[in-house]
Amino acid sequence: MSDASLDRVVIFDTTLRDGEQSPGASMNLEQKLQVARALRDLGVDVIEAGFAAASPGDLQAIRAVGAQIEGPVIASLARCNRGDIDASWEALKDTRRRRCHVFLATSPIHRDFKLKMVKEEIIKRSVEGVKYARERFDDIEFSAEDAARTELEFLAEVVERVIEAGATTVNIPDTVGYALPVTYAETLRFLKKHVRGIDKVVMSVHCHNDLGLAVANSLVGLAEGARQIECTINGIGERAGNASLEEVVMAIRTRRDVVKACTGVKTERLYPTSRLVAQVTGIQVQRNKAIVGQNAFAHEAGIHQHGMLTNRETYEIMRPEEVGFARSALVLGKHSGRHALKERLVALGYQLEEAQIDKVFQDFKVLADKKKDIYDADIEALVLHGQILGKNGVAWELEALSTTSGTGTLPCASVALRDASGERFLAAATGDGPVDAVYRALEKVTGVSAKLRDYQIASVSNGEDAQGEVTIEIEHSTGVYRGRALSTDIIEGSARAFLDVMNRITLKIGPPQESEARTEMGTP
Ligand code: KIV
Ligand code: ZN
Repeated sequence: MSDASLDRVVIFDTTLRDGEQSPGASMNLEQKLQVARALRDLGVDVIEAGFAAASPGDLQAIRAVGAQIEGPVIASLARCNRGDIDASWEALKDTRRRRCHVFLATSPIHRDFKLKMVKEEIIKRSVEGVKYARERFDDIEFSAEDAARTELEFLAEVVERVIEAGATTVNIPDTVGYALPVTYAETLRFLKKHVRGIDKVVMSVHCHNDLGLAVANSLVGLAEGARQIECTINGIGERAGNASLEEVVMAIRTRRDVVKACTGVKTERLYPTSRLVAQVTGIQVQRNKAIVGQNAFAHEAGIHQHGMLTNRETYEIMRPEEVGFARSALVLGKHSGRHALKERLVALGYQLEEAQIDKVFQDFKVLADKKKDIYDADIEALVLHGQILGKNGVAWELEALSTTSGTGTLPCASVALRDASGERFLAAATGDGPVDAVYRALEKVTGVSAKLRDYQIASVSNGEDAQGEVTIEIEHSTGVYRGRALSTDIIEGSARAFLDVMNRITLKIGPPQESEARTEMGTP
């Protein structure tokens, strides 16, 4: 079926806004730009870059995305008030393709308990908000927050009035993931039937995944006439997350015979983008996640493998290459040169500058000394870690680390760190195990004391000498942080992951005052 006969669906990505609302997923400016570049290369139509009024950092990030990312429309979220809309304008006034996304809740529970507004006030505020936004922006989206739990007649009235006021896209969110496909279809069908002017604007769906139905409901939206789907990479977002972009896009592509629609997404960029977002946010993708999970294309049962060898389509409805999932083969080793690495990077979908390739090559050589066989996943991990860790800004650098542990001995660790001025600090500590001892020694030097909430190690490729990716979640008085690091030595990887977080906390709160702990072993 040629794309010409299919309806084009707008893919509105909100990884940087709703996705960033996942606990602990906050990104710094450089990371947001990295994700925005990946989204542009992926071919999404709209990037919701943030909520300008939420913080000066958000405003600055939206402005930076608007200035640097050409192609997609860049959107900023705003409540229906002048301050928020002004902040969105401030962020986007120099961006050519811009959208103001205003929202107001419409459901009884939000009206009565959150907003304390009656129906008339909701309509008045919504209309005023859209009209005010319209004085500056041509492209206005209105979202009726919690639409899926709103009385149908009232929802229809709100939607009709904001269209009259100038909204160009009307979004019908299932904010708390409460809708079932059948009820969501009824809501959209009702609006299509009763709202004057709805056929002149784009109807959009925005579904949360509390009942695991976000993608199913988004597809129902498509069947009921929605032509914009709001989603996030890896489905990250508040609570159970949003509709997963990769699942929505591949469902549309794989079943275009039924949905009769297409997107502009370059599907072979899905897997690299998913990996980038997982790295940046620290929210790992479950192994059996559709489309981008490690097992998404793995066949274990003998009968399946036999069928696959005879004809792939017996058990495969999509080809892994379609989503950029390069089948992992042994590719490089100690004697491989820069050219071979560069070719492999291109095959994996990374378009790096020469200086970036040099950096990956340097790290590759170090790794090849420790690890005989280098797989695609290893190369990918080097790219992502190199980019991210290099740009976070570093307050502390790990210079040396040693641990002792064993049955019947008290685990202990000593660490040597250098601060930004190059001064060297040493500390030693004991702990429940070697990782705990390292963590305590790092706490002593950096003066950062925080609670470890989660600790995970995953192997990124195969073999006994595989690199381990350590991901941790730390609770500190200034927030929740995720840290990650890569190493063939899990103790070193753990230390680097802790230091990743401690560096970010130090950059936020400033270096520690001279403390007893920090100097207890002296500074040689
Ligand atoms: O879930 C929701 O309702 C939202 C709106 C702000 C669009 O994220
Ligand atoms: Zn949402």
